Amino acid sequence: MKEKDWKVLKVIEVLMRHYEWVPLDEIIKKTKIEDREVHYRLKILDRFKLINRSSYGYRLSHKGYDGLALNTFIKREVIRAIGGKLGVGKEGDVYNVLLSNNREAVLKFHKLGRTCFTRGKRYRSYLADKRHISWLYASRLTAEREFQVLNDLFPIVKVPEPIEQNRHCIIMGKLDGIELKKVDLISFNIDIDKLFWDIIEEIKKMYEIGYIHGDLSEFNILINEKGDFLIIDFPQALQIKDNSKLIKIDKLPLELEIDKEFYLKRDLENILRYFRKYGIEEDLNNIYKYVIEGKRG
Ligand SMILES: Nc1ncnc2c1ncn2[C@@H]1O[C@H](COP(=O)(O)OP(=O)(O)O)[C@@H](O)[C@H]1O
Ligand SMILES: [Mg+2]
Repeated sequence: MKEKDWKVLKVIEVLMRHYEWVPLDEIIKKTKIEDREVHYRLKILDRFKLINRSSYGYRLSHKGYDGLALNTFIKREVIRAIGGKLGVGKEGDVYNVLLSNNREAVLKFHKLGRTCFTRGKRYRSYLADKRHISWLYASRLTAEREFQVLNDLFPIVKVPEPIEQNRHCIIMGKLDGIELKKVDLISFNIDIDKLFWDIIEEIKKMYEIGYIHGDLSEFNILINEKGDFLIIDFPQALQIKDNSKLIKIDKLPLELEIDKEFYLKRDLENILRYFRKYGIEEDLNNIYKYVIEGKRG
């Protein structure tokens, strides 16, 4: 890919705000590149499947959007190489990357919108007549949201270090470990009771900063053999404090109060259920009280 290929691709990205299929003459006008050259560049982009085309014109493909973000990270000299796939999550693909300082990290491409804005009217009305770019917009919004949450939590809470964000991608610190779901803790030779309380402590710190995870379970906690762990996957996190650093929520306070209890109890119940297998019997209401008030019943 040459500089001009990227230029044409970026122009298509920008013009997608106005067109479902971007007409050829608009691309030519905006790139200020000669007709024949633009034709040639489009052919290359099509061959790499970075664009789709129809009789009406051209549009960015998912792969094209991934490519634009990756190219930005490379140009900013954030990453040096991209490696194998680490995980195929529900809504994002996660890859190993090598940062320019030779440190290993992970890159997550968000595929769908999953922020709590999706519950808001503002978001829906904005996208109502722009369905053709909703995936672009929603996946970017989700990445921005997750990056924001990580920035607010790191390093106080054990979450991945936020490194960079562009379009629908985030780059974050990596833990060489696996999901709690996939391990047998007995074989790890660690203090399971301590691990349980350490996780509760992180949930408590998170709550004090102003967040409830909202999708917490043994799938979203990574652990290594030493027992170090990280809580991951934050796009849907519920913001419970109107910290000016954070994006404002347009929700009724009462509604938020009800949501708060519901989501926090659901997160805690998932953790309790998981640890019950290991003989830990704690009461949900006691733990809930401890998280929100700091007192163990
Ligand atoms: N910071 C990280 N370090 C190591 N592995 C990670 C990291 N973030 C994600 N992964 C891997 O990618 C998978 C999917 O990531 P996750 O953020 O949970 O996205 P999804 O919304 O798709 O579940 C995880 O289950 C885990 O295996
Ligand atoms: Mg996950």
